[in-house]
Amino acid sequence: MLRKITSIDFQSNNNTSQFVLIRVDFNVPVEDDLVVDDYRILKSLPTIQYCLDQGAKVVLMSHRGRPNGKVDSSLSLMPAGERLAQLLEMPIKFSHDCISEDAIDVSRNLKRGEIHLLENLRFHEGETINDPSFASKLAKHGAIYLNDAFGTAHRKHASNVGVADYFTTKGMGLLMEKEMEFLSDGVSNAIDPVSLIIGGAKIDTKINVIKHFFDIADNIIIGGAMANTFLAANKYDMGKSLVEKSEIDTARKLMLMASKYKTNIILPIDFNGEMGKFGSGKLRYTSRDDIKKTMICEDIGELSINLFTDIIKQSKTVFWNGTVGVAENKDFAIGTNKIIDAITESRCTSIVGGGDTIAAIRNYKKGIIEDFSHASTGGGSCLELLSGNKLSAIQALEK
Ligand code: 3PG
Repeated sequence: MLRKITSIDFQSNNNTSQFVLIRVDFNVPVEDDLVVDDYRILKSLPTIQYCLDQGAKVVLMSHRGRPNGKVDSSLSLMPAGERLAQLLEMPIKFSHDCISEDAIDVSRNLKRGEIHLLENLRFHEGETINDPSFASKLAKHGAIYLNDAFGTAHRKHASNVGVADYFTTKGMGLLMEKEMEFLSDGVSNAIDPVSLIIGGAKIDTKINVIKHFFDIADNIIIGGAMANTFLAANKYDMGKSLVEKSEIDTARKLMLMASKYKTNIILPIDFNGEMGKFGSGKLRYTSRDDIKKTMICEDIGELSINLFTDIIKQSKTVFWNGTVGVAENKDFAIGTNKIIDAITESRCTSIVGGGDTIAAIRNYKKGIIEDFSHASTGGGSCLELLSGNKLSAIQALEK
């Protein structure tokens, strides 16, 4: 049974019920030993605060980056711990080796309301190979296990999967619960008309989402470089724009499938971009019927913006993963920004995910991300759920 945090008793007379081991996702960017984007840390606070309020002794574990089982000080979790201490305005204990006897002693000697953060789990190769011996050592840090690391919930790693076998009391943290509510139940129970906006560069990372949504969505809007490949499949000359030649056939098949399901696939009808090469600064607008040989399409044009935003305005539920242009460049963030405006000004239920899309929203206007019904902290895990797949970490909690 999948338990929610609110069904767990942290107050029972059993002394060990106060020890809670929480898997968080503190995989955050760091520069000069400082966290430069604390979004994921902020999103983990409700669960941590809930446990502290229950009088729990809290042990946190996470990965950062991909150190391949070796200690790499540039991927330490210390900066994340410092940021957490600032946000909670309290000291945080830190251990440099997540499974050392010393680290386990620190956890066992915690007082109620104290927090102990363990160093990067991936400094041990046992984490990514889901080694049972590594998982059993991690399990010594707590008596209750919570998983709040939605970002890694699709991985079959020791701290997500193996460790859960050692706990009888285990469940989802508040962040995980919200992600599942919107990305799992929210997809199954989406209110019509449903639109999926899908962007980014690579088709193969999104094929399964598109296929899954044929049965769910009325409209699938495709933007970003992915749209170039779909247009190439429809015989448009995309100039020097990024086209995945090896995926043209896939795009053609997806469009055929869409017509069988009576799902509308909507592609851009005009573009903004550059002439010659990326970064040339020679800006150009064009209709999709008239793309010059040296043109690189980098954003949707005004007619496409109107087309896409009209569909958004008529939708009751919108799912969005992937920007519709090169949004990190402000010249080519216009389409993405107009989509943000259309979604947040409409009354639809809006569920957005994917690192680049979340970054584009946060760069556009301070706080506007809060106007989405749900902004996911996951990349791969978000795509897995949108593809209709189960997450390994959730299955481990259900056992
Ligand atoms: C992420 O940033 O998407 C998660 O933290 C997962 O990281 P990973 O792709 O290295 O497993």
